[in-house]
Amino acid sequence: MPETVEIFEMGPRDGLQNEKRLIPAQDKIALVDLLSQAGFRRIEVTSFVSPKWVPQMADAAQVMAGIERVPGISYAVLTPNMKGYEAAKAARASEVAIFASASEGFSKANLNATIAESLARLAPVAQAAQADGIPVRGYVSVVTDCPFDGSTPPGNVARVVAALRDMGCYEISLGDTIGQGTPESIDAMLSAVLDEVPPGRLAGHYHDTAGRALDNVDASLARGLRVFDAAVGGLGGCPYAPGAKGNVATEKVARHLKAAGHETGLDMGVVQQAAELAQRLRG
Ligand code: HMG
Ligand code: MG
Repeated sequence: MPETVEIFEMGPRDGLQNEKRLIPAQDKIALVDLLSQAGFRRIEVTSFVSPKWVPQMADAAQVMAGIERVPGISYAVLTPNMKGYEAAKAARASEVAIFASASEGFSKANLNATIAESLARLAPVAQAAQADGIPVRGYVSVVTDCPFDGSTPPGNVARVVAALRDMGCYEISLGDTIGQGTPESIDAMLSAVLDEVPPGRLAGHYHDTAGRALDNVDASLARGLRVFDAAVGGLGGCPYAPGAKGNVATEKVARHLKAAGHETGLDMGVVQQAAELAQRLRG
């Protein structure tokens, strides 16, 4: 029996958030609806962040209202604070994601807060979501390399992972935000993180700037991880991480996993169509 490895589709959020041209909500909705036919169990649709910080995601409520929800698929959104959480709840997000950084430099750039301040701001979001029965996922960014502070000590990642675990995140996604991780640095980071959280509660979120994302997926599979974030068409980048290119492409990860004997449950024809649509949206 091939072992299942899940791809969490990031295209509509991480894939599009960095695009300069404002993409019409209808086009984003069409992308999500196509992705809903591809076999994903979880799709990150948008983010309820400050529109001053990320103008591309200013239509989050409109996109959430327009998508056709397929039963069994979780439609996830990012929530950086209570204001974002309340909007996400009103938009009937299936799950929310809170996000923190393993470095002070990126925390300041992305969240306008120190790591400690950001965690204090996220705790009430996690609490409210749990009280409302909405699952909470966590992200840690710059898990190996930071565009401002250089290489990230693995112990710093483990500390933020532990904080998100203690807030009740059901899964924590480890972001190589600028795609500079190597199998060696990913392995060293995982070695520290796995002291805090078992592999079944972790995901790998690898950007492919240096072309090492698949090697980093392999290093993570060897450590027992079975969930990877990816974006159709390899779209993406974080507006507050200079040099961050696309997420690793979903179709590339899916083919790689299949060749290694894993099952993803994806319809590759639909994934390919979605990758082409995503590329067209990018213009
Ligand atoms: P701030 O400027 O310190 O916050 O930003 P503030 O509380 O002073 O608010 C400023 C203005 O934004 C106010 O409006 C607020 O109402 C408004 P004004 O009164 O000036 O008109 N505001 C909001 N509006 C809508 N929704 C909200 C919201 N919050 C405040 N939720 C803040 C702090 C956290 C809000 C800001 O820094 C922010 O939005 N950051 C998010 C940046 C972002 O989205 N980055 C990309 C996603 S993370 C990522 O890509 C990494 C990941 O993929 C993993 C990886 O690869 O590493 C997940
Ligand atoms: Mg990312």
